[in-house]
Order: sequence, then structure tokens, then C-alpha cells
Amino acid sequence: MTTLLFFFFVFLYTVTTLTFPPLTASGATSSCRTFCGNIPINYPFGIDEGCGSPQFKGMLNCSTDLFFITPSGGYKVQRIDYQKNKMVVFDPAMSTCSILQPHHDFKLSDIQNAVVRPSYDTVFALLNCSTNSPVFNRYRNLCFNASGHSCDELYSSCTSFRIFNTTSPSGNSTVHTTPYCCFTSYDTVRVMSMNILDCSHYTTVIDGGNMRDATTTPLDWSYGIELSYSVPEIGCDRCRKSGGICGFDAETEIFLCQCPASNNNPIASNNNPTRECGGGMTDRGGCNSTNNNYTTLLLAMLMSFLYVIL
Ligand SMILES: *[C@@H]1O[C@H](CO)[C@@H](O)[C@H](O)[C@H]1NC(C)=O
Ligand SMILES: *[C@@H]1O[C@H](CO)[C@@H](O)[C@H](O)[C@H]1NC(C)=O
Ligand SMILES: *[C@@H]1O[C@H](CO)[C@@H](O)[C@H](O)[C@H]1NC(C)=O
Ligand SMILES: *[C@@H]1O[C@H](CO)[C@@H](O)[C@H](O)[C@H]1NC(C)=O
Ligand SMILES: *[C@@H]1O[C@H](CO)[C@@H](O)[C@H](O)[C@H]1NC(C)=O
Ligand SMILES: *[C@@H]1O[C@H](CO)[C@@H](O)[C@H](O)[C@H]1NC(C)=O
Ligand SMILES: *[C@@H]1O[C@H](CO)[C@@H](O)[C@H](O)[C@H]1NC(C)=O
Repeated sequence: MTTLLFFFFVFLYTVTTLTFPPLTASGATSSCRTFCGNIPINYPFGIDEGCGSPQFKGMLNCSTDLFFITPSGGYKVQRIDYQKNKMVVFDPAMSTCSILQPHHDFKLSDIQNAVVRPSYDTVFALLNCSTNSPVFNRYRNLCFNASGHSCDELYSSCTSFRIFNTTSPSGNSTVHTTPYCCFTSYDTVRVMSMNILDCSHYTTVIDGGNMRDATTTPLDWSYGIELSYSVPEIGCDRCRKSGGICGFDAETEIFLCQCPASNNNPIASNNNPTRECGGGMTDRGGCNSTNNNYTTLLLAMLMSFLYVIL
């Protein structure tokens, strides 16, 4: 008797889930933009609702330019390298070698810290640190010389940071003093905010090509933040190869293969809760072959149900 009931409910469940597609599937956004300006937008990123990976939702906005949105502001995306899983962003409010800007923090949300965070090639230069700063005292070992360069070079080479080089009379001459500075990694900034660090300014250098060469000066370095991101492995390739764009259901955040609207496939509308699109594929897969399989499955369930009752 219990077996019978079990089969009955399994049958009911199968019928209801398979014959009625999720309500939100037909209401979700049908088009995912694949470019913002000249920057391609691919999985796991998305700029429209229901596009890309749900873990990355709301992280990019394509208003005038492409922006990476964090709790500390919007950072202009300069490039995305989908082979290396790297994205380079630039904070327009950050001080660089040529411009000094007001105090500013850098903060990522918890989910961002888990899936997209500054790479180890990104060096944070903390400038004008007070003598009370943790990186001047207890956590001094968090500071390092980046590729043989000392952060003091920023005080001497950059027009923007020369303001920190102060003079004071000493006997009958003057001495030049600069406040403490520190090259450190993102982890230091993540754990201690700029206020705790007690450094009035920061800049970030991508230690890619230029910095590695010991003869370069801070004027030659590239300023910005290189982020490394992880791609959730959910079988997006199958969807992409069938002409779809990987996305998700806005409410349930369940994977959806967003298929082109021009399919000869009005039932599934533009979205396909399976992992690939039909229409473009003629050999195997495709939306209607999946439906056929559902029918087969349904029939099989019905048969086994009848078999158990009789
Ligand atoms: C996108 O981000 C930029 C930079 O933070 C901001 O100025 C703009 O208002 C945002 N646009 C939308 C639609 O959220
Ligand atoms: C450097 O830091 C001190 C506090 O330690 C601050 O009073 C001063 O204004 C800062 N200098 C600049 C140019 O912001
Ligand atoms: C960094 O470089 C400066 C100047 O080249 C040197 O005085 C200092 O000892 C170096 N610090 C470390 C931790 O290597
Ligand atoms: C500070 O400025 C003086 C004069 O411009 C210069 O000789 C000195 O090297 C500078 N100090 C640092 C640490 O940059
Ligand atoms: C002041 O300058 C003179 C000449 O340059 C020098 O002999 C003397 O030692 C200096 N005094 C101090 C206190 O540095
Ligand atoms: C999809 O269905 C149409 C009409 O039923 C059929 O002509 C076509 O061959 C099918 N495509 C696939 C991939 O099964
Ligand atoms: C139908 O589903 C079965 C197992 O669920 C699978 O082995 C088979 O390849 C599927 N057929 C099609 C045409 O997708």
C-alpha cells in the first residue's frame, strides 16, 4: 500500500512539474545584452536581469560605461579577460601618481569577496600612514617591497604625493621627512579598513609588466585593480553551444538557458529550463527532443503506476 501511494505521488509530482513550466520562465527577461560598449559580457557576468550567474547579479551596470558596483562605489571596468578569469577596474576617485584625491575606502561585499576579489598582482600602496597605524607597528610584516620597489618611490616620483614630503628645520639645515607608507595585499585592506589602517590615502598598482622591471619609476606603472573571479561550473557550455546565453530564473535563481526569441518553438518561449536551446541545432539536443523525452518519461511513469496498481 505504501509503495502504491509512493508511486502515485511520484507520478503526480512528475505530471505537475513536467507539464506546467515554471510560471516565471515566460515572464523573465528574454534578451541578455552581450556587449556594453566594446566590452563583451559573457558568463558568469550579466548586465540584464536573469543573465549570467546569480552569484554575480547586480555587480555590473551598463549605464554610460560598464561599472563594477561595490559597497564603496562604482568602478569603471577597463577590460575582462575571459581566458584568465581576470577583470581590470579603475576607481575614478582613487589617487594616482598624477592626481591626489580625497580619502576613500575600498570595500567589497561578502559575496564579492568570495567570487571576485583583487588578484595577488594588485598591490595596495597605503600612503601617509600615521605612527599609530597597525602596519607601522604590530602588522609591519604585512608590508613588502613590490618587485624590488619601495613605496617611498611614490613620494619622490609622483607629483601627487610630493605634498607628503615635508621639511622641518633641524639645527642650521632642513630635513625632509615623509610619512610611513606600505605596499600590501588586498587582504590587509579587507580586514582593516582605511580608518583602522590610519593611512590617509591609497593607490593600487597592477604588478603586471611594468613594475617587474626594477628600472621603472612610479610614473610608468599601471594604476587600477585587477580582480580574479571564479566561474561557477554549471554546464554553461552546452547552453552556449546551442546558441543560448546562460542565465537564471529571477525568483528561484535556478539555471535557465536563455534562448534566442526567433525559435520555431513558441511553447518554451525564449527561456528553456533545460540546459540547451533548440532551433539552431538539427542533429541532437534541441528543445523539442527534450520535450519528447519528457513525454517518454511521463509514459514510463504512467506504465509503472498502472503496473503497480494492477
Ligand atoms: C551605474 O553605476 C554608476 C557608477 O556608480 C552610477 O553613476 C549610475 O547611476 C549607475 N546606474 C544605474 C542604472 O544604476
Ligand atoms: C596625512 O595624514 C595626517 C594624519 O595622519 C593628516 O592630518 C593629513 O591631512 C594627511 N595629509 C594629507 C595631505 O592629506
Ligand atoms: C625595501 O626597499 C628599501 C629601499 O630599496 C629598503 O631600504 C628596505 O629595506 C626594503 N624593505 C624590505 C622589506 O625589503
Ligand atoms: C623630499 O623632497 C626633497 C626635495 O625636493 C628631496 O630631495 C627628497 O628626496 C624627498 N624625499 C623623499 C623621501 O622623497
Ligand atoms: C651648521 O652649519 C655649519 C656650516 O655649514 C656646520 O659647520 C655646523 O656643524 C652646522 N651645525 C649644526 C648644528 O648642524
Ligand atoms: C522539432 O520539431 C519539428 C516539428 O515537430 C521537427 O520538424 C524537427 O525536426 C524537430 N527538431 C528536432 C531537433 O527534433
Ligand atoms: C532521454 O532521457 C534518458 C534518460 O533520462 C537519456 O538517456 C536519453 O538520452 C534522453 N533522450 C533524449 C533524446 O534526450
